[in-house]
Amino acid sequence: MINRRQFLKLTGAGAAGLLTGGMTSFVNASGPDAALKPAKNFVPDLDIDLRAAPAQVPILPGSSTDVWRFEAKLLKGDPASLTRLERTYLGPVIRAQTGQKVRIRFTNNIADNTIVHWHGLHVPADMDGHPRFVIPQGESYLYEFEVRNRAGTYWYHPHPHGITGPQVYSGLAGLFLVSDDEEKAAGLPTGEYDIPLVIQDRAFDKNNQLVYLSGHRMEQMTGFLGDWILVNGQPDFILPVATHAYRLRLLNGSNSRIYKLAWQDGSPMTVIGTDGGLLEKPVQRRYVMIGPAERLELWADFSRQAVGSETALVSLPFDAGALAGGRRGGGMMGGMMGSDAVLPNGAGFSVLRVKVKRQNKETLALPQRLSEFEGYRVGDAVNPGNPKTFHLIMQQMVWTLNGRIFQMEAVAGDEVVQMNTMEVWEFVNEGGGMGMMGMMNMPHPIHLHGLQFQVLERRGVMHDGYVDEGWKDTVLLMPGERIRLLVRFADYPGLFLYHCHNLEHEDMGMMRNYFVEGNGATAKQKSPTAREA
Ligand code: C2O
Ligand code: CU
Ligand code: CU
Repeated sequence: MINRRQFLKLTGAGAAGLLTGGMTSFVNASGPDAALKPAKNFVPDLDIDLRAAPAQVPILPGSSTDVWRFEAKLLKGDPASLTRLERTYLGPVIRAQTGQKVRIRFTNNIADNTIVHWHGLHVPADMDGHPRFVIPQGESYLYEFEVRNRAGTYWYHPHPHGITGPQVYSGLAGLFLVSDDEEKAAGLPTGEYDIPLVIQDRAFDKNNQLVYLSGHRMEQMTGFLGDWILVNGQPDFILPVATHAYRLRLLNGSNSRIYKLAWQDGSPMTVIGTDGGLLEKPVQRRYVMIGPAERLELWADFSRQAVGSETALVSLPFDAGALAGGRRGGGMMGGMMGSDAVLPNGAGFSVLRVKVKRQNKETLALPQRLSEFEGYRVGDAVNPGNPKTFHLIMQQMVWTLNGRIFQMEAVAGDEVVQMNTMEVWEFVNEGGGMGMMGMMNMPHPIHLHGLQFQVLERRGVMHDGYVDEGWKDTVLLMPGERIRLLVRFADYPGLFLYHCHNLEHEDMGMMRNYFVEGNGATAKQKSPTAREA
């Protein structure tokens, strides 16, 4: 069941990579061995058997669609901690409490290498689903970790290098919801009034089968964009509600589409949470931008609506830059290729309709205080006035981070950080770079593994629909923007990823490792300033 051979093979490949990469090598403190056998002293509160497997689900009228889907069985724990969604390719919703110990025995039953990543969770390096841990069909990987995150809407998805985009697209994604005492005391809607909404776009052929990239390089450059907007895996999604307040947990689970969400009737969006859980207090926006992998939690109060009335959550049109894309090309490049864009990034459309179905006498009032938020102080960073800067640039038709692309086990000198320190990281999306597309700009949703960070400042803002408050693990940078983050590397040494969460960008290599030194894990630097060409 456990795959030691594969691990050894990968270690060998990694070692070779270090010799040729001219970067740095490292010693893993605990070693991936820890991931391979159940630890004797680990007593799980939740024990889950999770599989990635082929399935057929009805999505459009007519034939079912072939998908890959996460399926799970609860071996131990509260039955409410695993809920299966009907008629969807999405994986089951996993629910855990802060402080619980979780064991997940993952088996790969798809005809592809894969591994599972727990997006947003603070877990040890060998529990994080790094692509170096991929397993082939028929093999298993054992996850054991304690949930240390605060309450929030996290998620899980595959993370094999180069093929994450197609695997998530094929259906492999699910929610991982964490709750804690603070959240329970906040006075938020629960049960049927607490609704997860995963927004994704897909394209189908005449036989209702999923269509991914056409093979055009340009399409990978912009990222996949589908012309069907699905919510929880369903088209034309209708949310039946009562006259009551709701907690709507939104996840943008799309490969590359960005949404500019607003209520159709123009009423403001009340945001109560982001990637890392509840905000200190609710904030209001006319609209909210949500990039791939970001989460937003809304307070939606339908208590003053008449039974029978309807509203809708829409995505407003916006300018996504020169490379707006679209399934058959689009924007400027579509024009150059002589094709019409099908729903390019930035097009307007309806996401879901809300129908008020029944009267409910009671409702809830929006709490003015949601959670305790203790912000980081920039003065506590090791480099307060001197951020580590990462330029999001295209080189030789590939999106890069500072001109570097992913290498399985390599880290550059400036990608090595010390455990229990805080740094200021700056991401700059102001164009530049070389090659035909050098002057082109695109949005990039930047994600850091293993931690939640804070947004220190954002400049060059073209959109006021960002929710930069609270704890974040993914931030959207529209063309012309730069953002400074306060990042603290707590608890866990080892190798973690940071990358663009436009999955086609990630797959082409817009991803790098960072290495947390501590507890005996060290990155031996050969050339601290080395950069890959
Ligand atoms: Cu949601 Cu590295 O990923
Ligand atoms: Cu992640
Ligand atoms: Cu990108």
